[in-house]
Amino acid sequence: MNKVLVSLLLTLGITGLAHAAGDAVAGQGKVAVCGACHGADGNSPAPNFPKLAGQGERYLLKQLNDIKSGARPIVEMTGMLDNLSDQDMQDIAAFFASQKMSVGAADPQLVARGEALFRGGKLTEGMPACTGCHSPNGAGLDAAGFPQLGGQHAGYVAKQLTDFREGNRTNDGDSMIMRAIAAKLSNKDIEAVSSYVQGLH
Ligand code: HEC
Ligand code: HEC
Repeated sequence: MNKVLVSLLLTLGITGLAHAAGDAVAGQGKVAVCGACHGADGNSPAPNFPKLAGQGERYLLKQLNDIKSGARPIVEMTGMLDNLSDQDMQDIAAFFASQKMSVGAADPQLVARGEALFRGGKLTEGMPACTGCHSPNGAGLDAAGFPQLGGQHAGYVAKQLTDFREGNRTNDGDSMIMRAIAAKLSNKDIEAVSSYVQGLH
């Protein structure tokens, strides 16, 4: 692990002390409206809607807070979280985290390039491998707020990487870790690594 990563983990550990205490059973009764886009169990059928099933609870709760506060603007979800309490959002995060993310398939033409980026980064440009935070099987590390990527829709992943690179998604903290990484990715890199993670499990 490099020094940047270690100090980031420490920062996240210190700032992330409040632990999510959601009730997955209660959460299931609060997600009816979400299913239209994300799927009833969080495995969305369409590539522009992220899969929430099996995603880390802490990561989900952070996104819900960011979406509600406007730190991560999502027009499709405008106003949808306004009437939810903190407890509601904790329960919803716990429910989706308790489900299992379905796996997709990678485009065979893109696997070599995608795997090289995911596992090796671009060391000459100082870009770390994705595995360092998102883990070798793409499961992420929820205790540190690192989301699961394995099985996620390639279309959604590509949009996020592009949004980080272009400054349209800025909720990755003061360390700007994902904006810094995405800045080193070309459109072709993004296409390849996104396809690769869609088939990863
Ligand atoms: C009308 C469609 C729609 C509905 C209904 C909807 N969402 Fe979303 N949601 C989206 C879209 C689109 C995105 C991704 C936007 C982007 O590209 O960044 C998203 C993103 C998210 C994310 C971030 C996922 C990630 O991997 O970072 C979470 C969490 C989320 N939604 C939770 C919910 C919950 C909980 C509900 C129900 C209360 C809900 N959504 C209802 C469209 C919807
Ligand atoms: C040093 C740790 C670190 C490394 C290395 C890293 N990430 Fe991330 N990544 C994060 C964190 C932290 C977040 C969550 C940001 C937030 O809270 O919104 C994230 C979020 C993401 C997301 C958004 C997920 C979603 O559901 O919306 C994608 C996509 C992503 N990373 C892809 C990658 C790829 C591809 C690589 C390698 C090229 C990579 N990451 C390398 C820490 C890292």
